[in-house]
Amino acid sequence: MAILRNQEENVLQPEQQNGDSKEFENNLRPRNFEEYIGQSELKSNLKVLIEAAKQRDENIDHVLLYGPPGLGKTTLANVIATECGVNLRVTSGPALEKQGDVASIISNLQAGDILFIDEIHRLKPSVEEILYTAMEDFGIDIIIGKGPSARSMRLKLPKFTLIGATTKMSMLSSPLRDRFGALFKLDFYNNEDIQSIISRSAKILDTNVEELAAKKLALSSRKTPRIANRLLKRVRDYAQIENSGIINLEMVNRCLENLGIDDLGLDKYDRNIIEIIQNNFNGGPVGLSTISAATSEDLNTIEDVYEPYLIQLGFLERTARGRIVTEKARTHLKKITKLS
Ligand code: ADE
Repeated sequence: MAILRNQEENVLQPEQQNGDSKEFENNLRPRNFEEYIGQSELKSNLKVLIEAAKQRDENIDHVLLYGPPGLGKTTLANVIATECGVNLRVTSGPALEKQGDVASIISNLQAGDILFIDEIHRLKPSVEEILYTAMEDFGIDIIIGKGPSARSMRLKLPKFTLIGATTKMSMLSSPLRDRFGALFKLDFYNNEDIQSIISRSAKILDTNVEELAAKKLALSSRKTPRIANRLLKRVRDYAQIENSGIINLEMVNRCLENLGIDDLGLDKYDRNIIEIIQNNFNGGPVGLSTISAATSEDLNTIEDVYEPYLIQLGFLERTARGRIVTEKARTHLKKITKLS
């Protein structure tokens, strides 16, 4: 098999999803539930959803996955498609510019296929509207002609499943949210699961990691598989350049230090956010737009990328009057400053 994902069409065939080509081996993404580490509650709920639908010989209901970036929403969509034995068509909210884009993608699906829309909160209202009837009635109303002779015609669509993914549940309109039969939140992973993901990825990358090194990498991965795999690849570079057959703790420490990543996985941008709120705004409360202006960081990046982990750590609190830095964050910063 030459390529796994047909780039032009961006469709994964079920047999490709289950294939064992070198390309897939190199891919760190788990392909099925067995390979997927963590999110155990979500996984068991999904297994019931899929098993019950299979028994009824029906498609699974439309699924909405939400949670911070990097926790595996796209990966899960792939896993779901594999477990259902159907094709997956991948697109994103911003890529669907016109109603016609939705009509053409869905009408090209086979019955049972899954359409995955990443960043579904970024759909234009007109595009979102056409999804309502597509999801509910598997049809789309198209207007033929212009002026007084214009008439509406219903285009029948194959019975498909929509999987939507979003980092911003609050930005989804309620009519769209209500059309999903199953809503699942992805939580940050625990450190043990991240360590297992690192060990699994290391095997796929043909790299050896000492246990203490894997543990330290896990602690610095922000409880996020995407970051764990990214850090693993960076330390692997060190091992390779130094002709070492194994990644050890000393290498991990050196790599993290050079990348400016501390024991909790915070980098200089996280620390800058905390420090500015603490030093310039007396620890808060301070509004997001003020933080954005003071740190020169994009507001959405702060909200979607930095904040969720800082809140999870208990370093930042979101209140009606703005963001507040906690004592825990102050203690951590003092410790880091002392060390440097
Ligand atoms: N790689 C990225 N996410 C993963 C997960 N949840 N399980 C196993 N490997 C992964």
